[in-house]
Amino acid sequence: MSDPLFDVSGKSIVIAGACGGLGSAIARMLGERGAHLTLTDRDHAALEKLSDTIAGKVACFEINVVDETDTIAVLQSASDTYGGIDVLINATGAFVTGPADQLAAEDFRHTFDVNTTGAFLLSRAAAKHMSSAGGSIVHIASVSSIVANPNYAAYATSKAALSQLVRVLAREWAPQNIRVNAIGPAMTETPLTTAHLAGNSFRDQALSVIPMGRLGQPEDLLGTILLLCTSGGNYITGQTIYVDGGRTLV
Ligand SMILES: NC(=O)c1ccc[n+]([C@@H]2O[C@H](COP(=O)([O-])OP(=O)(O)OC[C@H]3O[C@@H](n4cnc5c(N)ncnc54)[C@H](O)[C@@H]3O)[C@@H](O)[C@H]2O)c1
Repeated sequence: MSDPLFDVSGKSIVIAGACGGLGSAIARMLGERGAHLTLTDRDHAALEKLSDTIAGKVACFEINVVDETDTIAVLQSASDTYGGIDVLINATGAFVTGPADQLAAEDFRHTFDVNTTGAFLLSRAAAKHMSSAGGSIVHIASVSSIVANPNYAAYATSKAALSQLVRVLAREWAPQNIRVNAIGPAMTETPLTTAHLAGNSFRDQALSVIPMGRLGQPEDLLGTILLLCTSGGNYITGQTIYVDGGRTLV
């Protein structure tokens, strides 16, 4: 029997960036617990492949989260499929690094667009379909929301802005009982970081600032995701919760 504090069975949950390393782990965990899932990503082929591996009810829609028309249409489809939306989890992301004096302005804009503007568009498209009982929105921010790593001008700026967006939306939508939060992971092994972590010096540097002495794994985030999606977290709003092996303590 599922614990009523952390029960997602029958909840209509939209996951954006569902095909990524974090999104797919979240989708599998929620599917196993009986959530009614809408999986969205810009990668159509990956969506079809992923949906075959998920237990329970699954709908899939291709989306580009920086396109407002797309976000409105896809969240409407999710709502039509399940009679509303209870939870939005946004695990889309762009990760570009490089010295500030060499970073292309286009890369800076693109990173901000996906990580921050996309989060804004998804949040308001989802909130429209949340019932009078409320709902929960969870974004994946990063330790870079507060840690100022050199070479992270684009990424860290976008994630700091995302954490502040979460705070503002949490205040605006609290009267509708819509909670808005983020999770801030440390360096986690997923396709987003594979190329970076392949370099020994990058990996060693990343490990040297994590007190728990290991990189994150997607599974490390699942308990906090479940908390924020369920009544167990029903008085938490406006927070970025760092799930980071102590990275933000250094
Ligand atoms: N992996 C890490 O070390 C780490 C650490 C901290 C925070 N995060 C954050 O967690 C989130 C997920 O990261 P991940 O490691 O799973 O990345 P990932 O690259 O494995 O997955 C990202 C997913 O987002 C999708 N996506 C990208 N742009 C999109 C767009 N415009 N429209 C729709 N879908 C789009 C991609 O197709 C991909 O499936 C990101 O926001 C990332 O910044 C990751």
